[in-house]
Amino acid sequence: MGNYADEIKRRRTFAIISHPDAGKTTLTEKFLLYGGAINLAGSVKGKATARHAVSDWMEIEKERGISVTSSVLQFEYGGFCINILDTPGHQDFSEDTYRTLMAADSAVMVIDASKGVEAQTRKLFKVCVMRKIPIFTFINKLDRDANDTFELLDDIEKELGIATCPVNWPIGSGKAFKGVYDRNRQCVVTYSDTQKGTKEGQALAIPLTDQEALSAAIGEEAADRLRDEIELLDGASAEFDLKEVQGGNLTPVFFGSALTNFGVEIFLKYFLDMTTTPLPRKAEEGVIDPVLNDFSAFVFKIQANMNKAHRDRVAFMRICSGKFDASMEVRHVQGDKVMRLSQPQQIMADERKILTEAYAGDIIGVFDPGIFSIGDTLCMPKQHIQYEGIPTFAPEHFARVRQVDTMKRKQFIKGITQIAQEGAIQIFQEFNTGMEEIIVGVVGVLQFDVLKYRLENEYNVEIKMENLPYEHIRWVENQDMDLKSLTGTSDMKKVKDLKGNPLLLFVNSWSIGMTLDRNKGLILSEFGKN
Ligand code: G4P
Repeated sequence: MGNYADEIKRRRTFAIISHPDAGKTTLTEKFLLYGGAINLAGSVKGKATARHAVSDWMEIEKERGISVTSSVLQFEYGGFCINILDTPGHQDFSEDTYRTLMAADSAVMVIDASKGVEAQTRKLFKVCVMRKIPIFTFINKLDRDANDTFELLDDIEKELGIATCPVNWPIGSGKAFKGVYDRNRQCVVTYSDTQKGTKEGQALAIPLTDQEALSAAIGEEAADRLRDEIELLDGASAEFDLKEVQGGNLTPVFFGSALTNFGVEIFLKYFLDMTTTPLPRKAEEGVIDPVLNDFSAFVFKIQANMNKAHRDRVAFMRICSGKFDASMEVRHVQGDKVMRLSQPQQIMADERKILTEAYAGDIIGVFDPGIFSIGDTLCMPKQHIQYEGIPTFAPEHFARVRQVDTMKRKQFIKGITQIAQEGAIQIFQEFNTGMEEIIVGVVGVLQFDVLKYRLENEYNVEIKMENLPYEHIRWVENQDMDLKSLTGTSDMKKVKDLKGNPLLLFVNSWSIGMTLDRNKGLILSEFGKN
């Protein structure tokens, strides 16, 4: 094994999650700015172009019926090599969004200070909790009128069930926003919107007790209020404990304004300090340490039809240990084949860069001739490592699907099965029949369009879809459960997945509770096994 521990240890790989419009893109751009990946002029001008490029790409993807790309951005800052995994939001929310979180070692949650915790954040957050990865909260848009700070923290604690520890504290908001108080350094960092996009506010290092200086800097009223709030906070909030943060039980909270570039660099510095190096990952053979092992990786996303002319697919993998070198041979464990990975590349929002090497923590995309599945492991030819599969996430929209031309049954089954294998949709059948009736489940409704489009264009099959009222799906965990004897509510439907695993569909969460009550010992899960 080579000596690449240092390269691995300086890597930080995180996902950035938020409800649409909370400011994820803006915050990411500011990170890149500090990393020198874009210069300022480029960022202001480039913002529109970059957005344009990305949304164009999404339009094309949509038209071609491809699931929407999550991009990976890599940049250097302060000696760290940082990988940001962007999780697509908006209407293109799909199972891929969840899977992306499986490839990250921590998550940054961006919250709009005037909105608090919103639906999409809640969903993504659940996945982070399941993985027990550290979560850092950036409360954004303090330059606009914000909710009460204590209420915002309360909201996070109640809605998401995680303790909060503010690392800094906002002084006012909107027109009255004066900056933040850094609890660690015990000084006030003043805000000035004349510094839009250029640099952070100046740290004045005024102790709270220095009434005169503080009043001079932020005004008497704000100073009084700040002192009161900090006193209250010191008595009420959780103590900072790095272990708790790294175990995903406590989220450090930061306040700022990504748009006016305030609080971003402070956040980035603390974040890099507190987050983890690439985490070890569980395999069937035991826990694989990223530094002590040679190359291994797992596939977390497959993107079909990046180039329609070639019907190509790109498999995205997260390197879990060691170093990847484009010239080396690797074992595809599930396919039991030794091969060279073809066209390894780093995929940004709108560009691709061919890679020659990469390290644990990095994400690479490779050309997939149709052999990889989500959750597959790659490792050194002489090794046999098999990482635990990626769970299947509960779809929230369901439809019954039929082909229009009954003569095309074969193509229909082939197409829909292949698309399901890529992970864009999930398919289910009536639990006591075969493929006569197919129920499709998706995480985001856009995937229905994707399915229709792809079946028509790639498999030449026209389909009819009938929406079903179900909103919840649960995997039956009990090994010995006989679905026939299970008594649920009248609106419940019993189905099975491609592997024959039993599942239940429900119209509302009340029915789930009823069914659990009526069947003692029944164990239902929101996540399935791939
Ligand atoms: P997203 O990726 O989470 O969806 O959010 P994005 O960064 O695109 O931000 C959504 C909107 O909120 C954008 O405005 C953006 O400029 C604005 N925004 C982001 N951070 C802040 C902040 O700290 N303060 C304020 N006041 N606004 C912020 P837009 O009008 O939708 O787009 P644009 O025309 O500005 O590009």
